[in-house]
Amino acid sequence: MSLAKQSSGNSFTITPVSDALGAEVFGLDVSSPFDSETLGIIREAFQQHHMLCFREQALEDEQLVAFSTQFGPLEVFPEKGHTKDKIEVYHVANVSLDGEHLASEDPKVVYQRNNGRWHTDSSYRYEPSLASILYGIEVLPDDAKGGETGFSNMLTAYAALPDDMKAKLEPLHQVHSYADIRRLEPSIPPMSVEERDAFPPVTHPVLRVHPDRDYQRSLYFTSNTSLEIGGMTLEEGKALHRWLVDYVSRPEFCYFHRWRKNDLVMWDNRVLLHRAIEYDFAHYRRVLRRTTIGGDKTIMGPFWPEARTAATGR
Ligand code: SIN
Repeated sequence: MSLAKQSSGNSFTITPVSDALGAEVFGLDVSSPFDSETLGIIREAFQQHHMLCFREQALEDEQLVAFSTQFGPLEVFPEKGHTKDKIEVYHVANVSLDGEHLASEDPKVVYQRNNGRWHTDSSYRYEPSLASILYGIEVLPDDAKGGETGFSNMLTAYAALPDDMKAKLEPLHQVHSYADIRRLEPSIPPMSVEERDAFPPVTHPVLRVHPDRDYQRSLYFTSNTSLEIGGMTLEEGKALHRWLVDYVSRPEFCYFHRWRKNDLVMWDNRVLLHRAIEYDFAHYRRVLRRTTIGGDKTIMGPFWPEARTAATGR
C-alpha cells in the first residue's frame, strides 16, 4: 500500500515494490539536503524496507555525495582508476571515464561481471559498509535482457532456514578479501602492494546479529571474493557457498530492480545481498555511479555476549 508523507512542505509517497523488500519514493527531490523531519521519515522507511528507489532525480556527483553523507561518512574506493573526480564516487560501468564503450574483456567490465555474484559491499573491511547508493546515468532500453540489480533479503532468508541449517551455520566464519576477487576472475590485474596491504583478509560470522533490530539474526556472506569458511576445507566451503547461493536466490526473498535513467537506489548492506544481472556487455552501455556509506562497527555474531544474552535471557 502506498503511504503519503508530508514533511516541511514536501509531499511524497512511499510504495512497497515487493513482498520481499524495497519501496519506491515518488515526488521527493533529493538534490538538496533534507530537513530533519524528512530525513527521519527516509531513515525509518530505509530501516523498514531495506531498499529505497527515488525516481526522476537529476544529480551531479557533488549532489550525489551530499545526499549520501546525510546517512554517514563515505568510504574511499580501495583501488585507483575506478572513480571519477571525487574519490568517493565509484564508476560502475562498461564505459570508460571518458565515455568509451569498453570491450567485454576489459578489467573494468570483468569487475561488473564479478558483481553478478551475490555479495554485500565492502565485506572485505573489518567494519563493512552500512549502505550503498547507486545512481542511473545510462541504463538498458526496456526491451533489453538483463541489467537489473537483484536484491535478496537475508533477514527473511535466515528466518526460513531449517533448524539443522541454522545450527550448522551458527559457529561459522567466512574469509572476505578484496584481493581474492582475482581468484574468481584471474584476468583482473593485481593490486599494488600498498593497496593490498591496506586491505588484509578479514573474517566475519556467517550469521549476523542486529542490535538495532532487537538482536534479530540474518545471513551474512558474499560469493564474489574468497569462498573459504573457517574450519572447512576449500571444497567444503565452496559446497556450502553453492548451497547458500541457490537458497538466497529463491524468488520469495528477492526483488530485481529494472533501472530507469535518473533512478537513485539506496540499499542496506547489513541485511541485503545484491547482484548485477548479466546483459550483453558488447551491445549495451550501462553507466551507474555509486557511493558507499561506511559502517562504524564490525559484525556482531551469535556468540557475542550481548547476542547470547538476547538469545538465552542470561
Ligand atoms: C554493485 O554491485 O555495486 C553494482 C550492482 C550493479 O551494477 O547493478
